[in-house]
Amino acid sequence: METFKLDISKTGIEVSAEMQAAAQRANALLESGEGAGNDFLGWVHLPSSIDDAQIAAIEAQAAKLRAKADLIVCIGIGGSYLGAKAVLEAMTDPFRLLRKEQQDPTVVFAGQNISEEYIHALMEASKEHSIAAIVISKSGTTTEPAIAFRLIKAEIEKRYGKQEAAERIVAVTDKARGALKTLATQEGYPTFVIPDDVGGRFSVLTPVGLLPLAAAGVDIAALVRGAQRMEQATGTDVAFGQNPAAIYAAARNTLYAQGKKIEILGSYEPKLQYVNEWWKQLYGESEGKQGKGIFPASVTLTADLHSMGQYIQEGERTLFETIISVAKPGAEVVIEADAENLDGLNFMAGKRISEVNRMAELGVQLAHVDGGVPNIRIEIPQIDAEAVGALLYFFERACGISGYMLGVNPFDQPGVEAYKKNMFALLDKPGYEEASKAIKARL
Ligand code: PA5
Repeated sequence: METFKLDISKTGIEVSAEMQAAAQRANALLESGEGAGNDFLGWVHLPSSIDDAQIAAIEAQAAKLRAKADLIVCIGIGGSYLGAKAVLEAMTDPFRLLRKEQQDPTVVFAGQNISEEYIHALMEASKEHSIAAIVISKSGTTTEPAIAFRLIKAEIEKRYGKQEAAERIVAVTDKARGALKTLATQEGYPTFVIPDDVGGRFSVLTPVGLLPLAAAGVDIAALVRGAQRMEQATGTDVAFGQNPAAIYAAARNTLYAQGKKIEILGSYEPKLQYVNEWWKQLYGESEGKQGKGIFPASVTLTADLHSMGQYIQEGERTLFETIISVAKPGAEVVIEADAENLDGLNFMAGKRISEVNRMAELGVQLAHVDGGVPNIRIEIPQIDAEAVGALLYFFERACGISGYMLGVNPFDQPGVEAYKKNMFALLDKPGYEEASKAIKARL
């Protein structure tokens, strides 16, 4: 892809012929379905499978919610939350809530925590608004969103009645399984299906991400278009040297083999902060298993240069960095000359803020490289729906390749069950009686 660039020249590594071949083999496994976790490869050709009719159906449902509500509560956690949150933050004005005229409904999130204070504040604030909800859970049984949904559903029913609630609540869930599916069928909620073969963290381009984003006014057709272009650019017919996902996967595995156990994803655009969070789930859940895996961390720059910068520059040398760089800023603000120059900033007069940001980025890159932190640089042309769609698919494809190169099943997450067992035992859930006694004795 012309507009998406990946640069590993500042990593100090050579990707060996073996690593290149391993990346190509791993990419081929995603295609052939002969690798571990092959029940969950539906995301590989998901972008190209999305047609105009699917986009239109999602947009039509989003339009109905937009017509009814100025506040849409999107309920979900993990893969049923982070993709929509990441794209929404990237695409929208960070100060939109300060604007007197709101064109789009406000989309807020719930069910991504069990904070009483958070849900209470949301319920209170929602009183001033006309509300609707999108409830998302693939399993349909996840505790955090189930708690939030019980509260929001009750509020909607109290205010508008059960019949109207079925016009204001949309479920995104499995086609047949789970409590949410049963509930949605019983209550007559419009429902979108999460395909069986797409795991939560790879589901942003299903209705899991697309419906809340369409409700918020994001151009989902452009998002999908970007992902489609990246699907082509990372296919098995693309040579290693031209395939950014294969190069990224091979570079990070090479660095890992050299003792770089922590990858820090960073950007100089705060709008991309939740892309970092989405990426951490994608890579953390996909690779962190069997005692292996690069630990995914993140920074937002330049803010974190004033906190994490010290460690990155001089701490333990187990880090490498991946920076998402944005070629074209979405606004223009020039630093003006000041007659008194009391702040000493006149040497920057006439420069755009983005030039200063760029020099910070380049200066930091070299400082970190000099400090022993290899640097991978991803450049996207600008922050728009198409570029973000391409970026998300790039990371997904590279994650699948990288996980197979590491020798793990990138599509399961057995480790996330441990906390749930303990929590249910502590909450005396029926069926957990023995575990309950045992865990309480340990407290
Ligand atoms: O990636 C995953 O599979 C998880 O993070 C899930 O998305 C998360 O646990 C939410 O699951 P569900 O959609 O079933 O409520």
